[in-house]
Amino acid sequence: MENCAVFAGLHPIPPNQLLGPSRSALKLLPPFFTEKTHLFSLPLKLQKQSHFALGTTSNNNGTTSRVASPTSNVTTELADIDWDNLGFGFMSTDYMYVMKCSQGENFTKGELQRFGNIELSPSAGILNYGQGLFEGLKAYRKHDGKILLFRPEENGLRLRMGAERMCMPSPTVEQFVEAVNVTVLANKRWIPPPGKGSLYIRPLLMGSGAVLGLAPAPEYTFLIYVSPVGNYFKEGLAPINLIVETDMHRATPGGTGGVKTIGNYAAVLKAQSAAKAKGYSDVLYLDSVHKRYLEEVSSCNVFLVKGNVISTPAIKGTILPGITRKSILDVALSQGFQVEERSVSVDELLDADEVFCTGTAVVVSPVGSITYQGKRVTYGADGVGRVSQQLYSALTSLQMGISEDKMDWIVELK
Ligand SMILES: Cc1ncc(COP(=O)(O)O)c(C=O)c1O
Repeated sequence: MENCAVFAGLHPIPPNQLLGPSRSALKLLPPFFTEKTHLFSLPLKLQKQSHFALGTTSNNNGTTSRVASPTSNVTTELADIDWDNLGFGFMSTDYMYVMKCSQGENFTKGELQRFGNIELSPSAGILNYGQGLFEGLKAYRKHDGKILLFRPEENGLRLRMGAERMCMPSPTVEQFVEAVNVTVLANKRWIPPPGKGSLYIRPLLMGSGAVLGLAPAPEYTFLIYVSPVGNYFKEGLAPINLIVETDMHRATPGGTGGVKTIGNYAAVLKAQSAAKAKGYSDVLYLDSVHKRYLEEVSSCNVFLVKGNVISTPAIKGTILPGITRKSILDVALSQGFQVEERSVSVDELLDADEVFCTGTAVVVSPVGSITYQGKRVTYGADGVGRVSQQLYSALTSLQMGISEDKMDWIVELK
């Protein structure tokens, strides 16, 4: 959904303005960086809405290109990859952030390390008992060279809520946001040019200490890695096709569906793989008690549009409280829609004007069809629905710094 040039009428940099490898690549190392160790400790101070200047880090992982933005005279280094064909696959970058603490203690000091494999005891809590959480957010590059994050403190807060549920210590919101900032800046050359995608940021929190009997791990690791990404669904901007799962459930009342714990994702692989094998894009889950009310898709929230009313399942412990979901509700309200968070029956799918999904990875993804008990309902016969398109444009314009940030959601890095 990120190729906003088509969908939102934005203008990416034409390929002929991407210049070849540069020998005069600027190499500004931050004062606390040592070439020898490639490690540096970072001051953990949050400066919301402020400008972070780290400079450009080393370029040992491949060649560097330069891009001249048509709307500014800022010259930025970019990694030498095919920016026009980014999907949602993993690509390693230069640095990752690592911070550790013992059980019962607080995280205090993290550092950037060269991106690479990590060492874990075979008895680590995360490997044996799934004591782990992850987050996902994105950084965008603007035409003027500024780097933007979207509501990173919300991800920090959600990580803390999840950590409480999973018996783990977690970084403070301030530590979380600062760690995201320095990781993004250290990997700046991997942030796609405007209109080509974004840098997906993946924070992890895991029980890294060894345990044998079932118990919280004695040591925890907070780690952030990043990867440049384009569209999440292979459909790109085209509407996706969902199937309602009637046998398997993603979450149960009292379980962990409302937090971003790793086991929730392993649990949906079977239904998702079966759906994909039949040609569907993903699975829409129902509640496990009544088997009647919509919950969410494997990795995104779901919305129905009927007239001027936009409805989405209420948050009640089994659904992930998506940050995109919350933002879309506010954007929709500000645009004069009536929004409802409530129990949404699967029967309402028959009657909806439009259906769309939201998430950091999928942004706002229009749904073209939903199949339930062998019956297929289609939406937007003549393309993407008007409301989905309107909300997509409003949200991506905000996230990419094209429209004014009246909500105070954007954190700018420099
Ligand atoms: C299960 C699930 N639901 C919803 C979402 C959407 O959340 P957000 O908008 O914060 O990315 C995600 C993605 O993180 C998810 O994994």
